[in-house]
Amino acid sequence: MFGPKSMLRGIAVAGALLGLAVADNPIIQTLYSTDPAPIVWNNTVWLFTGHDENGARNYDMRDWRLYSSTDMVNWRDWGVPMSLKTFSWARADAWAAQVVERDGKFYYYATVTKNSGGYAVAVGVSDKITGPYRDALGKQLLANGGIDPTVFIDDTDGQAYMYWGHNSASYVKLNRDMISYSGSINGFSLQNFIEGPWLHKRNNLWYLTYSGSGSSNEDIKYATSTKPTGPWTFKGQIMAPQGRSFTNHAGIVDYKGGSYFFYHNGALPGGGTYSRSVCVEKFTYNADGSIPRLVMTDAGAPQIESLNPYQQVEAETIAFSSGLITAAKSDGSGIYVTSINNNDYIKVKGVDFGKGAASVDLRVAAAAAGGKIEIRVGSQNGNIVASCAVDATGGAQTWKTISCPVNGASGKQDLFFKFLGNNYNFDWWQFKQVA
Ligand SMILES: *[C@@H]1O[C@H](CO)[C@@H](O)[C@H](O)[C@H]1NC(C)=O
Repeated sequence: MFGPKSMLRGIAVAGALLGLAVADNPIIQTLYSTDPAPIVWNNTVWLFTGHDENGARNYDMRDWRLYSSTDMVNWRDWGVPMSLKTFSWARADAWAAQVVERDGKFYYYATVTKNSGGYAVAVGVSDKITGPYRDALGKQLLANGGIDPTVFIDDTDGQAYMYWGHNSASYVKLNRDMISYSGSINGFSLQNFIEGPWLHKRNNLWYLTYSGSGSSNEDIKYATSTKPTGPWTFKGQIMAPQGRSFTNHAGIVDYKGGSYFFYHNGALPGGGTYSRSVCVEKFTYNADGSIPRLVMTDAGAPQIESLNPYQQVEAETIAFSSGLITAAKSDGSGIYVTSINNNDYIKVKGVDFGKGAASVDLRVAAAAAGGKIEIRVGSQNGNIVASCAVDATGGAQTWKTISCPVNGASGKQDLFFKFLGNNYNFDWWQFKQVA
């Protein structure tokens, strides 16, 4: 099989050689992810991404994906909030997109190719950040040629702006309804601009970050202005071309007192121009408001706070995983971990067991007996603190909570679920503390 499992299974092998086995970048290992568009909402970072299909030999993108985190290292998978199927008038190219919130609704601006040909900007809308998003207009928001939309609402006057472009940049003022615009489309120039604009504002300075022409692959450059309408002053390069993907694409947010720069590269096994992966780096603005030069790392951002294992945690909350993938339940009630094979594992980073765990509940479904989940601390080969047999539950979607004793899990640990046997599914977990 030529897919994520065959490619991602390689991580363990390559990692053993390179010491990268459980790196925190790329953020997502269960599929190839692209074009990060982070948004902070309800004290959580929501990371909207594109998705490169496995084994693609050209850009092959059919849906968008969503992840969330409160600690910047453990990311919960929310599945597919929107796809090409959302837009009956679009046929291909679920390219770069961004979600913004206004008046309790979430608007999802996305690049697509129309049935009749030509790129356009589509808008999805939902009452929930997690979707599902529906087609807000039944047609394009923006005519032919619009790609890579970025939208920002000015906090001083409430005016929303949308920027986009490929080889030349444009912007327009969005109306209060967020699904129409007024006034002219304004083209403007940015040094070496290719695509992927990202608009944000900090201390009354507007930043326009974009993918530019580098010596080979794209780099990330930026310009600033004291007004959202420009003129823009070129400020230089943030991230040089690095790694195996031709494109790069930036998304920038502040969260819990830190600043974060999201981008993509080809760093997963099998990765490259058509199989990209989203990464993140933490940074600090210079005193004059400029953004420092950043390099792609395997380490990623530091963990903000430890994870509490005594609450119910979705199994698809992952710092790093090997082999397995995630899927949506057919009844729409959530996401679970599936395609589990012998020795696959999930790492959950920085879990605080406090004085210690006495037992663990695991929500599983198994068509046949023979599976076992080993819970280890420190590494995927670290001390076993629990070993839980997964017996047949009556079907691959027949969920059952099993409980098993835990010994030796206390204090702050990296937690590993190591899967033995095949063909069972994993929905959530929850530890119980010692009395
Ligand atoms: C906001 O986050 C809290 C804590 O995770 C959660 O309980 C609550 O449901 C969230 N609110 C909404 C509107 O999603």
